[in-house]
Amino acid sequence: MSRANDRDIVKFQYNSDKNLYARQALHRGFSTNKYGWENWVFDQYMFKPNDKVIEFGCGNGSTWANNSNKIPKDIKVTLTDISEGMLSTAESNLLEIEQIIKYCNMDIQNIKYTNSYFDCAIANHMLYHVQNRDLAISEIARILKEDGTFYVTTNSIYNMKGLKNLVMDFDSRLDYSSFSVASEFGLENGAEQLSKHFESVEKLVYEDSLHITEPKPLVDYVLSLEGHVNIQEIMTESRTKEFYQYLKDIILKDGSIDIPKASGMFIAKKPKKLTE
Ligand SMILES: C[S@@+](CC[C@H](N)C(=O)[O-])C[C@H]1O[C@@H](n2cnc3c(N)ncnc32)[C@H](O)[C@@H]1O
Repeated sequence: MSRANDRDIVKFQYNSDKNLYARQALHRGFSTNKYGWENWVFDQYMFKPNDKVIEFGCGNGSTWANNSNKIPKDIKVTLTDISEGMLSTAESNLLEIEQIIKYCNMDIQNIKYTNSYFDCAIANHMLYHVQNRDLAISEIARILKEDGTFYVTTNSIYNMKGLKNLVMDFDSRLDYSSFSVASEFGLENGAEQLSKHFESVEKLVYEDSLHITEPKPLVDYVLSLEGHVNIQEIMTESRTKEFYQYLKDIILKDGSIDIPKASGMFIAKKPKKLTE
């Protein structure tokens, strides 16, 4: 267990969509690739007519909201998350999308559906939060049809390289260096984990970086790591003001703060039916 998948930390971190929203706002406001992550992710989904689709850890549903006009009319989508707060935000964000037929509180490690039920499963930026990931991936292989597809997004270990040093140069007591989601399940080690339960795994990378010209969204991003990093302990109101000023000074001196990104998607096919 690590800070990325500690059950209590994950529960606290995603009690509502506040933290996720702060991170999405930084990416939305300052990404250099203007096509947009959510558009790219949706482009990879190859839905067939009448497909039954399920997403795990759907968060606030931003990919569906961003692509609402591209969702085929005849598919049926079930959205699930372990957090009630996330689910209710997703539901209110996606009220008008008729293809989304159900919102369920569900743990990906214990999926309440029968074998070979779904055509597509999705788990975006969430497998690294799961304690028994092998069980979760085996559950996905179980509920997918023989010709089903599993879409999984995650980060590389090189994602946001430089941010940790920037934060720890401000205050070395912030224990950011030991927090890494990608070392749990990332672009470098994800294919191996998926291959235990899928015959075919393909990796796609989305080219992007951050060109940040305002301090506030970056302050909010760092504060949003509460739980995973000891934010509550260190970032008092006055320390947060100092952090804002520290970032503002860097931006005034250098014109911007530039941070590389490295994220992508695995597309896994041909589930190995170990449990049947
Ligand atoms: C980083 S957010 C990603 C949200 C969304 N998929 C996205 O890409 O924007 C991770 C989500 O996974 C959910 N989650 C964490 N552990 C889970 C589990 N074991 N089963 C289902 N959902 C889980 C969290 O509640 C949170 O909403």
